[in-house]
Formats: sequence, C-alpha cells, structure tokens
Amino acid sequence: MATSLFDLTDRTLTALVAGLEKRHAGEDGVAETLARLNAQDYTQRGKPKAPAKRDPACRHLAAGIAATWHVDKNLSAAIGDLAPLLHWQRVPEQVPRPPQGFMDDYAYTQIIGPSGVYPGDDFMFGLFIIGPRQIYPEHSHASPELYWLFTGPTAWRLPVDGPWTQKRAGELQWIKPQQVHAIRTLDVPLLATWTWTEDIDGDFCILGADRSTPLNQPAG
Ligand SMILES: [Fe+2]
Repeated sequence: MATSLFDLTDRTLTALVAGLEKRHAGEDGVAETLARLNAQDYTQRGKPKAPAKRDPACRHLAAGIAATWHVDKNLSAAIGDLAPLLHWQRVPEQVPRPPQGFMDDYAYTQIIGPSGVYPGDDFMFGLFIIGPRQIYPEHSHASPELYWLFTGPTAWRLPVDGPWTQKRAGELQWIKPQQVHAIRTLDVPLLATWTWTEDIDGDFCILGADRSTPLNQPAG
C-alpha cells in the first residue's frame, strides 16, 4: 500500500522535532514551538481538508529541497516526499500591492492548520517558498512565528526601516507577536518551515510592497 499523506506528514514532523532538538535547542522560540507541536492532536487521520495543488512557485521546490539536504538530511527526504502531496497556495489579499512578479514566485502550504493535513489547535505549521530576488513585504501578526531556513543567504528586516540582516541556510528566525518583518531573497530561492504558535486568528497586517531598497544593493 502506498505510504499515506498522514504517514509522510508524521515522518516530516518527527524529523522537524528531532532536528530542532539536535541543532537549535535553547534558541529563541524553539521551546515554545516544540511545546505547541507536542500539544497538537495527531489522531484525526480522515480525509485531507484540501487536495494536493501546485502553484507556479513550486518550480523552486526541487532546488530548495536539494539545498535542505545540507542542513538536515532526514528533513530534506521527508519534505521531498511530502511536498508534492500538499495544497500549495498564495493569497492575494495578504499581499495587496505585490512587487512585480511576486505572486507567481511565492507560495506556502499548511501542514498543520485549518487547511492543513492535521487541523491544529490554535497552531499552524507549514512550508514557505519564495523565488530569487523577491521581497515579502513588511507585515505583522498577532502570533509569534518561527522560521527554519533551509536555503540562503536571505535578508531579513525586523525593525521598520531598520537594516537588512543576512541569515544563512540552517538558521532560525523567531518573530515576536506584532513584530514587523520583511524577507528578501538574494540569488537563490528561500525554502523554509514556518510556525505560528498561538493567536492564529489575531490581526494580520501588510504594510505594503517594499521596493525602497534597490535589489542590486548588497544586504547585510
Ligand atoms: Fe510572518
């Protein structure tokens, strides 16, 4: 019998937990994320709430998954098997004035969450991909958020109008509640996991498309 979506999801979550515990124990947001992952209900293995669906940005997945191999082999293998079965989406309302080409170059999926494989209890976890030389505009939300970055470098701006700071492949980025953040890719796509640990129905605010920093200007 073919391995089910739920088995592949469980394998991915097991690799995620093991990877965070092995590589990132004690870092900002890790204990909170592990506690919330552990508190979820993984017994509802019914019909998936959303069918498998590709988005244009999924063309970057192969490169992202290959790069993930250098960060965590188990997670790379698990994501490689699971990603084609997931419901990839882009939500225009979340980026009302997208930078040129952005909507065909970003996508995310819920693995845990209202449209995920498991429903989640005030918790969301999934994958996120953005093509090279794009900006995810400055935004904020009520939920804290933990990213695990599998490709890089990428540039992050946390204070509004603050400097861009580079993150390498393998690093985490913890976002506090309501903390404004923007993401800029450089020469390679960004593949990451994202996690909203609580208050998932709270405010979500996009401050607008951001082209204030020329893309040919080095970040960092
Ligand atoms: Fe965010």
